[in-house]
Amino acid sequence: MHGLIFSGPADVRFADDLPDPTLRGSGEAIVAVDAAGLCGSDLHPYEGREAARGDVVPGHEAVGRVLQVGTGVRGFVPGDRVLVPFTTCCGRCAACARGLSARCAHGQLFGWGDPDDPTAEPLHGGQAERLRVPLADGTLVALPPGRSLLDGVLLADNLPTGWTAVERLGEVAGQTVVVLGLGAVGLCAVWAARRLGAAAVIAVDPVPARRGRAERLGAVAVSPDGAATLAAEVAPDGVTGVVEAAGTAAAQRAAASLVRPGGTISLIAVQTAAHLGFSAVTLYDRNLTVVSGRASVRSLLERLLPGLDGVTLPTDVVVSHPELPLSDGPGAYATFAARGDGLVKAVFRP
Ligand SMILES: NC(=O)c1ccc[n+]([C@@H]2O[C@H](COP(=O)([O-])OP(=O)(O)OC[C@H]3O[C@@H](n4cnc5c(N)ncnc54)[C@H](O)[C@@H]3O)[C@@H](O)[C@H]2O)c1
Ligand SMILES: [Zn+2]
Ligand SMILES: [Zn+2]
Repeated sequence: MHGLIFSGPADVRFADDLPDPTLRGSGEAIVAVDAAGLCGSDLHPYEGREAARGDVVPGHEAVGRVLQVGTGVRGFVPGDRVLVPFTTCCGRCAACARGLSARCAHGQLFGWGDPDDPTAEPLHGGQAERLRVPLADGTLVALPPGRSLLDGVLLADNLPTGWTAVERLGEVAGQTVVVLGLGAVGLCAVWAARRLGAAAVIAVDPVPARRGRAERLGAVAVSPDGAATLAAEVAPDGVTGVVEAAGTAAAQRAAASLVRPGGTISLIAVQTAAHLGFSAVTLYDRNLTVVSGRASVRSLLERLLPGLDGVTLPTDVVVSHPELPLSDGPGAYATFAARGDGLVKAVFRP
């Protein structure tokens, strides 16, 4: 099959001779990938911020059709249209039972291999023609009727992730919320904050075109330099909560100074540094609550999808490059990393 191969920082190649994945256990499925997202999380190993094994198919946001299932799979048959959340989960362990599917005791992240444990097999990702899905019954989600492939890609990660980031702020109805970082995750957080009733969303990013997208979702947008002034105007009583979807120390510092005393900072960006951009002293002196961690997509979708029936998702605003062939993959990674060509969210069509 053809697909992309990650071999180290700045090294993603297209290959047309990858081995077809095969079932390795009775609970597994093989999915034919129709659409696969490129995510800010793919940039961490690509830009060398996060160590990762090489010779791995990257990507963790896939939508496709079930090709084959093991004898133990109960919920899916060949031909089913499915979306594949970015981690696998069993649906039965204590973490899954608590709604924390992202930290399933048996879960794995797609498109990633642990560099510290060479004995653990990496789990190849979705940026290829076919994908092996362990724990298929616990992991896969039927693509809801009427949803497009692009909606499915957003539902596999960025939309529930942005939603999680806002939910972790607590009650936002009638409040002012700040979102720092307007990639696909931040834009989905803007959308979620509006849907959850925030009175105002201040959307912050140094890239003007990304700010324009946030405005289309109902935010007031501003560059990092102007955020404090705008926040003082929009929210004289202070900002209740800040979503940090940028992943930089500067954004974390901004979060700690923009939020009002007693407020909450939701760090939804993957943390790749040992220390935050603000200190424990700031945390104490301003009575802040900080929440962080991987979004539990599978658990959240069970709760979220019924309420989104018939609701237009922010797909058109978020996805800038909806139909790239996998052979454009190496270029798309480089362009995304350079913030070039207006690329916010690319979707490959294997
Ligand atoms: N927690 C989870 O489960 C989860 C899931 C998916 C993605 N993520 C993470 O979320 C983060 C965002 O993902 P993405 O796909 O939107 O990435 P992205 O790289 O497209 O977006 C990051 C944005 O932050 C902006 N930025 C940089 N410095 C800033 C600053 N000081 N102030 C405001 N904005 C600033 C950049 O211009 C960019 O637009 C990444 O760290 C990604 O790994 C987390
Ligand atoms: Zn992702
Ligand atoms: Zn589990």
